[in-house]
Amino acid sequence: MSDILVHTEAGVMTLTFNRLDKKNSITRAMYAELADALAKAAEDGTVHAVLIQGDATIFSAGNDIGDFLNAPPSTPESPVFRFLQGIATFPKPVVAAVCGPAVGIGTTMLFHCDLVYAGDNAAFSMPFVNLGLCPEAASSLLVPQMFGYHRAAEALLLGEPFMAEAALEVGLVNRVVPPTEANSIAQAQARKLAAKPLSALIEIKRLMKMAQQPALLERMGEEGQSFGRMLREPAAREAFTAFMEKRKPDFSKL
Ligand code: COA
Repeated sequence: MSDILVHTEAGVMTLTFNRLDKKNSITRAMYAELADALAKAAEDGTVHAVLIQGDATIFSAGNDIGDFLNAPPSTPESPVFRFLQGIATFPKPVVAAVCGPAVGIGTTMLFHCDLVYAGDNAAFSMPFVNLGLCPEAASSLLVPQMFGYHRAAEALLLGEPFMAEAALEVGLVNRVVPPTEANSIAQAQARKLAAKPLSALIEIKRLMKMAQQPALLERMGEEGQSFGRMLREPAAREAFTAFMEKRKPDFSKL
């Protein structure tokens, strides 16, 4: 079975992370599937909304660290950047249901979703600093805007995780719900969206985003260049190797 399940019903395309044994960490192949599904959903007039979900225990552990080590993205056409571009410019509403850990891109993709429902066990983190990396998905722009600078600095410079209630307080999530109900609540909200006129959904989303969009895409490009370079530098290589070897990274000699 695929690591990304795609199911379309009642005007909603649901994308489910299905790599539970690896905590739904996202491989190159999964980014490609996500990017392809979003491209299809954008074109398909019967799809009015997209829902992204994990299960009640895990949303996503972020990028597959083995891939970071062995097949780091190298061009803007790399699957991860194709996915980020796709979700950042997706014209129709995107809903997310998040339970358990949402690490790295598991959190940053949420800044590009329109509605987010979090289980009370949701744990968000953007630990790029601990991996010798910089933020991606325009999060260096969007996190300070949404959280305020000082809370953004805790999240990005210290890489500190934050729980569902804190995410609700800063406005990253719409509602905190029991984990076993998150996917069905998000699905119900997505179906409400799907029942609206598509042309109105698209126009409202375009208008709400238009002031920010050029700066957002520019920042994503800038981050992508730094991220691609830093993936190959000693700090990141040590962090990834340490993770694979199940030990703490040693940055003391770098
Ligand atoms: N990439 C590749 N494999 C990953 C992974 C990742 N990002 N996250 C978890 N896994 C794998 C583990 O290596 C382990 O594999 P194994 O059973 O073959 O040893 C399996 O998934 C279970 O992970 P484990 O760490 O034992 O689960 P946990 O419940 O104790 O912790 C997390 C869950 C998500 C908190 C923890 O796995 C984690 O911190 N992962 C790394 C997150 C990260 O740094 N992502 C990159 C962000 S840019």
